[in-house]
Amino acid sequence: MTTPSPARWPAFAIAGLMLFGPRVRRGGLALGILLHGAIIVAMGLFSFGLIMIAALMLASGSGRRESSASIPSESRRTTGGRSRRPPSVHTHTSIPLKGHSMRTVVTPFLPAEASESELSDCYEAWVSAYADFPDRPAPSYRAFVDLLRSPTNLLGPEQFWVARALGRTVGIASLTLPQHENTRLTVTSVRVLPKMRRHGVGTALLRATLPTAKAAGRTTVTGQGLKSGGEGEKWATALGFAKVQEFVLQRLVVADVSPDLWAVPMPPGFEVLRWTGAAPEALLASYAQARTAISDAPTGASSLEFASWTPDRVRRHEAELRARGDEQRVVVAVHEDSGRVAGLTEMITTPSRPELGIQQETAVLAEFRGAGLGRVIKAAMMRWLIAERPETELVITNTDAGNAHMIRVNLQIGYVTDYIVSDVEADLGRLL
Ligand SMILES: CC(C)(COP(=O)(O)OP(=O)(O)OC[C@H]1O[C@@H](n2cnc3c(N)ncnc32)[C@H](O)[C@@H]1OP(=O)(O)O)[C@@H](O)C(=O)NCCC(=O)NCCS
Repeated sequence: MTTPSPARWPAFAIAGLMLFGPRVRRGGLALGILLHGAIIVAMGLFSFGLIMIAALMLASGSGRRESSASIPSESRRTTGGRSRRPPSVHTHTSIPLKGHSMRTVVTPFLPAEASESELSDCYEAWVSAYADFPDRPAPSYRAFVDLLRSPTNLLGPEQFWVARALGRTVGIASLTLPQHENTRLTVTSVRVLPKMRRHGVGTALLRATLPTAKAAGRTTVTGQGLKSGGEGEKWATALGFAKVQEFVLQRLVVADVSPDLWAVPMPPGFEVLRWTGAAPEALLASYAQARTAISDAPTGASSLEFASWTPDRVRRHEAELRARGDEQRVVVAVHEDSGRVAGLTEMITTPSRPELGIQQETAVLAEFRGAGLGRVIKAAMMRWLIAERPETELVITNTDAGNAHMIRVNLQIGYVTDYIVSDVEADLGRLL
């Protein structure tokens, strides 16, 4: 056997690179283009050079990457030990872009298997939605990746689709299938790079999610947090979605607020207790019952139902937060005579965004309303949060736009109102 001439080694090396994964193949393709470009320039072998470059492009194949994304693979995500991979219909659609000569390809997207360059492409599309909310700092790229790869989303399993055009990601859609409540609904989100909007990408992404929603037995598609009057709302309305609920978004910028606002005295007959992560066993049943009081909050025409809080459901919620790596703080007001939890408020912090507090549910049982407990427990929560997490710069919350009491309590302890957003819904059958 003869040894190949050293002049051919680069060609063998490039051929070898084509046997590896997509990133190495891309490196091989770049080397091949350089090598054959040099051959064309130095030796004038125009046809040979071009044929070889075309062959290398085929071997490194971006088509291969797209089809591999559409092959179902076992998810590593779990909730309480169960596989979180929902029933899924793996579509791969290619549609012409409206008003453009190119096409877009929509494929399922598996964040756990995506390369950094694919993820950073997705980040650009995902983060573009923050343009609607200039006062809300967008999560960093790392926080975004953590979010996508997080083992649980509190509602249920979440799947992603991406739209690609000209070799890059131009939009991303996510579909969540709530598991505990709301099992007739999906929570769907679609985001498209601003420069690629109005070409049908958003609609193509939405359509790609629908077969999976149908296969999972869902009948209603929900979109959440669309800025009132913004592009998302206009798009959703054009596609037949109806606005079902409006929310007020409020933010508390710690540096702008005097802690005096949090020095709110407790009304007689109540005491404040607090915990991180797990409710004390002795208060569990009463705490679960107090949480059900959230069901009295206005919800407009939304089909979304609040959780039916039982001790088991509380423990599951706590476990899901722990699985995400989130820290849950709870402050309760306990009625001293009966020992019952009269009201509660919950704050979530997440390691990837240490500067942020997310003020979640606050509820006071009907018979204890009107005594100022809501303000007392929220103010106590702020004192505790800032004492333990001085790195907190911003706390955000959202409240039904008709919930005047809660909105006022928030203003009293230093929140300002910044945006109005809405939830939209459509019958799945009408979108298919
Ligand atoms: C909402 C969003 C995903 C739409 O993506 P898109 O690719 O531009 O949407 P499409 O091209 O498929 O739009 C389909 C139709 O919706 C309507 N529409 C979309 N954007 C609109 C706008 N800004 N104003 C008025 N109508 C609009 C139009 O009728 C459009 O058809 P046309 O362009 O032929 O007139 C995109 O604007 C976006 O990423 N916004 C930020 C994130 C967001 O708000 N998402 C909301 C869904 S959860």
